[in-house]
Formats: sequence, structure tokens, C-alpha cells
Amino acid sequence: MSKVDVQAMPLAEMRTHRSTKWRDFPSDVLPLPVAEMDFPVAQPIRTLLLEMVSHSDLGYLGAVPELGAAFAAFAHRRWNWTVDPNQIHIATDVGVAAVELLRLVTKPGDKVLINSPVYHNFYTWIEETQLKKVDVPFGNAESGWAIDFEGIEKAYQDGVKVHMLCSPHNPLGRVYSREELLRLVSLAKKFDVLIISDEIHAPLTFSESEFVPFLSLGEDAESVGITITAASKAWNIAGLKCAFIVTQSPIMSATLQNLPEATHYRASLLGAFATTTAFSECDDWLDGAIETLDSNRHFLKKLLDEKLPTVGYRIPASGYLAWLDLSSLNLGENPAATCLEKGKVAFNSGESFSSLTPQYVRLNFATSQDVLTEAVERIIKSL
Ligand SMILES: Cc1ncc(COP(=O)(O)O)c(C=O)c1O
Repeated sequence: MSKVDVQAMPLAEMRTHRSTKWRDFPSDVLPLPVAEMDFPVAQPIRTLLLEMVSHSDLGYLGAVPELGAAFAAFAHRRWNWTVDPNQIHIATDVGVAAVELLRLVTKPGDKVLINSPVYHNFYTWIEETQLKKVDVPFGNAESGWAIDFEGIEKAYQDGVKVHMLCSPHNPLGRVYSREELLRLVSLAKKFDVLIISDEIHAPLTFSESEFVPFLSLGEDAESVGITITAASKAWNIAGLKCAFIVTQSPIMSATLQNLPEATHYRASLLGAFATTTAFSECDDWLDGAIETLDSNRHFLKKLLDEKLPTVGYRIPASGYLAWLDLSSLNLGENPAATCLEKGKVAFNSGESFSSLTPQYVRLNFATSQDVLTEAVERIIKSL
């Protein structure tokens, strides 16, 4: 399949969008938080949606075996992972999948492990299910955000029931190696911990890194792991509300039989079929998007090296989120708030990912290089 040229839409057009990224701020603010891309949705998905709408095909969601089949074929094609498509369960979104799974396998007060800094909704999911958060943070940037395996082992030993893994990692852009994941598998097996692997960013992994699906790591991984994922991030269709849960073992599959039935039908019909189309017909669009994101992640590095060389930035291995250390700029207690107030540029504050990273901001580079240039100019205006 050839590549599609995927480029950001003009800013003026983006400003007409109705999504939260474009509604949360006044029109003089340049918004770079929220993980949505400024790229047009892949043509096959648009064609499908237009066809469904024009035929008033907008009813409730029934069984969609096509989705499991499409994901299994994609997983095999891209990651050499053989997936049993019968063990794929649709959910409204990844958030709902996480919350319903946590409700199913824990009781209030049980311990759930996270590794901060991490996607802020990991905190809200744990709070919503009245679980006890245990945090074993990554090492610092100088350590390459090293995994604290000793801390994890101790937490497992101390009775953690579930470990929420973000793989690839938001906001660090880190891709777990096979060895790292296998180490987690053997610890989880030893201490009877369930690992829920959120792999929503996986299709956007850059070619120099290998994304390893957790459940592709053999029988032990299948016996301790459940994956939650969606097409919503990689194909930019979050508003369509569809995600899915993957198990690959009889025991995990049996556990999921007790999920509320509504987990499935609260997803959207448009979302389920758009997801099927994304995984089956949109590799060429995905390759084009990755190429543009690859260029943008390096462009941002060049821009920062030229204009703000003291800002810390490790080029991410996956996704479109840059994790920037602004501590050298002396922007006060909350650099994101200062940038918004003085520079009129919005980022996610590092504090929402970890209390240990208040001087960081998360910048979304799934946009044009003009917007990235303007964003850096606006950080400079905030000084
Ligand atoms: C790691 C991770 N999980 C889940 C989500 C959200 O997924 P959903 O909209 O399907 O709940 C995001 C969104 O940015 C994310 O980064």
C-alpha cells in the first residue's frame, strides 16, 4: 500500500471544530493540549461515515465480528501478533473499559499500581472505582525514565491487585522493551497481579522502535494480562466512542463474561464500524500520519535547540506528545499556567501527570510546523 500525504488542516479551519481542544480556550489562545490530531480523518473512514449517515444507519450497536477480525489482521500485519478475534470485547471508550474492568476484578479499597508521570485519567479511573492508588514513579529524565523494578516488586509483594500499564507511554513517549515487559510478566505471575495494558498509542510507534503487544509475549503474559485499546487515537476518531478489551486466555476470557452487557452497547455504531475500517483499510493513512509526526518530533527538537536550548526534550518513540521540562525557564510554580496567561499558548500541566513533575508541560505536536513555531514563540513571550 502506498502512503497518503497527511498534513495538518489550516489553523482557521481547526478553530471551527467543535471538540474540546477548540472549545476550551478563547480564540487568542493557541491550544496544544488534548490528544487529538489536527489531521483530516482518513478517507475510507469519512466515506463510511457519510454512507451510514446518508442511509440513516444510526441505530443501536449489535455484534460486530468484523471489528475483531480487522484488529487481528492488523495486529498480525504490523506486530506479528496472532490474536484470537473471538476474545475482543467492545467498550464505549478506553476509560469505560478500564473502569468496568477495575470494577470487575477488584473491590473498593484494593490496591492499584501506576507508574507516574502517567496519563491523568489513570488517576480518575482509580478514584472512580474507589481503589487505593500505589505509585512507583519512573526514575528521572537523566535515567531515561528508568523503570523501578525493585519498587514494583515490593508493591506487588505488598498486595497490589492490578497494575495499570501505559504502553506505549503517555506522556513519556516511551516504548517498553520486550525484556522489560517479560520482567513484569514474571513478577505478575509470581505475585498474582493483573496487568491491564493500555495500548491506545501503539499504532503510532516510530519505525526505530519495536512496539511489543503485552499479550504477544506468550502464555504467562496471556494469563496475567488484559489489553485495552482503540483506533481513536491513531486515526483521530475519539468523538466516535468505541474502544475494545482484548484477552487471550480461557481464564481471562471467562472473567470477562461477567462484564456488564451494557459495556458493549454503550459504544457507538458509527464508532464500531469506523474502527473496523481504520484497522482494515487505513494503513496507508497511518503510515502518512506517522511520517508527518516523525518530521514534527524532529522539527520541534531543532526549534527548541535554536530558540530555547535549555528546555529538556527527549524525542518520543511513539505518539505525538512531547514532554517538555521547562524548569530552566523560571516560569513560576506552574509553567503551563504562566504560558497560558502570558504567552496565550495552552499545554497540559506536568502536575496533572505527577506531583513530581510540576515544571513539565505536555505539548501536542500533531499539528503543522507553523503552529509549532508559533507555540515556541509564545513560550518565549511568557518569559
Ligand atoms: C493512554 C491513554 N489512554 C486512554 C486515552 C483515552 O481514550 P478514550 O478516549 O478511548 O477513553 C488516552 C487519551 O489521550 C490516552 O492517552
